[in-house]
Amino acid sequence: MDKLLIDGQQPLSGSVRISGAKNSVLPMLCASVMVSDGQVELENVPHLQDVTTTTRLLTQMGISVTMDEFMDISLDPSTIHNLYAPYELVKTMRSSILVLGPLLAKYGEAKVSLPGGCAIGMRPVDMHLDALQRMGASVSVENGYITAKVKKLKGAEIIFPRKSVTGTENIIMAATLAKGTTTIKNAASEPEISDLCLFLNKMGAKVSGFGSDEVTIHGVNSLKGTRHKPLPDRIEAGTFMVAAAITRGDIEINNIVPEHSRAVIDKLIQSGAEIKILKDSVRVKMKKRPKAINIETNAYPFFPTDMQAQMTALNCIADGDSSVKENIFENRFMHAQELVRMGAKIRVHDNIAEISGSKELLGAPVMATDLRASASLILAGLAAKGTTEIGRVYHIDRGYDCIEEKLQLIGARISRKPM
Ligand code: EPU
Repeated sequence: MDKLLIDGQQPLSGSVRISGAKNSVLPMLCASVMVSDGQVELENVPHLQDVTTTTRLLTQMGISVTMDEFMDISLDPSTIHNLYAPYELVKTMRSSILVLGPLLAKYGEAKVSLPGGCAIGMRPVDMHLDALQRMGASVSVENGYITAKVKKLKGAEIIFPRKSVTGTENIIMAATLAKGTTTIKNAASEPEISDLCLFLNKMGAKVSGFGSDEVTIHGVNSLKGTRHKPLPDRIEAGTFMVAAAITRGDIEINNIVPEHSRAVIDKLIQSGAEIKILKDSVRVKMKKRPKAINIETNAYPFFPTDMQAQMTALNCIADGDSSVKENIFENRFMHAQELVRMGAKIRVHDNIAEISGSKELLGAPVMATDLRASASLILAGLAAKGTTEIGRVYHIDRGYDCIEEKLQLIGARISRKPM
């Protein structure tokens, strides 16, 4: 198992190119099982462990997957023979649940492992299953597996009790091949969902209203292959924005959709960063110690939970006291204890972290507990005096494309060593 070593207190400067969005690519890969005619080609796919896991899942179903040196992926679903997602793969990546809706819609049956526990919260899938039942599927959960069957899914009105990103995606995908019209009320509206809908429509689906909280899907008989370039990863972009702020650096972040990072940009401006927004890039400059800022996470367009840990790290070295409230997941403060090992002053109660900014953090050995927690430890390490050693870096490899190479190019002293 590798670890990352960081020698901190080096202001970062230069430009960085953001990769394709993990949370766009994963549902698109899963949607490919629904294609009856032609191939799916995805361009500029990020080089991530979660992408590898998803392609393994699809390969063991019989789908042929090829990848070239530019990370363009082609999928030929015509050879699928196995409608099954085993525990060994699902336990490492919860988004595997995204094959359930597509398999059921196209083949009328699916057996998918129930995702197990997760470091950031319970993360049940009850809303996915309830909605599929409303669309006519019989669903049972036995021996740790979800088994779903249906002759043909039928359109229904689905009212989600709370917003769910993959829940919305699973039901949109299932509804594309259902008989009749499905409306999803209280749908999530993250940009990755809109990207998925654009991709589905290119495949011949009829989805409208995406980007709002009510999505309508008119079922069609079949879907065909297409080529698509997933949108840039707004969470990777936000992480580099915080890297500029936390190191008092000056970074131009390219190949992004600035509007998708609005909530993060607004908070960084409040913290004292100078931000120049262009059409597809932003430049973030921080000249002085950041000011402490209060954060509260919520579904898009509000402040994303996937940026909470990174902003918590920024508050740890900021001037003043702040509070960070996590409203999406019930256990997403695992990074707090590790940041405390670096000298941060954080007190967590319920879903709130109270932070008293320290002038300086000190490098320490720390352990990554989940993807975004590991990003926050890297950011803290970049700001800290001395050396930070981060263990369990496989978490970061799940969702950040070439993170240490990208950081090295803008001046970070970061390296990877086998444990
Ligand atoms: N929820 C339920 N029942 C359900 C589904 C969700 O109670 O059936 C709850 C969850 O437990 C959570 C809340 O609803 O408390 C919202 O969860 P959501 O379903 O939106 O999360 P998700 O779809 O499992 C996606 C991203 C996460 C991101 C969240 C929130 C993907 C593959 N994953 O997860 O990304 O944090 O939305 O924006 O899109 C990450 O990239 O690090 C990551 C964790």
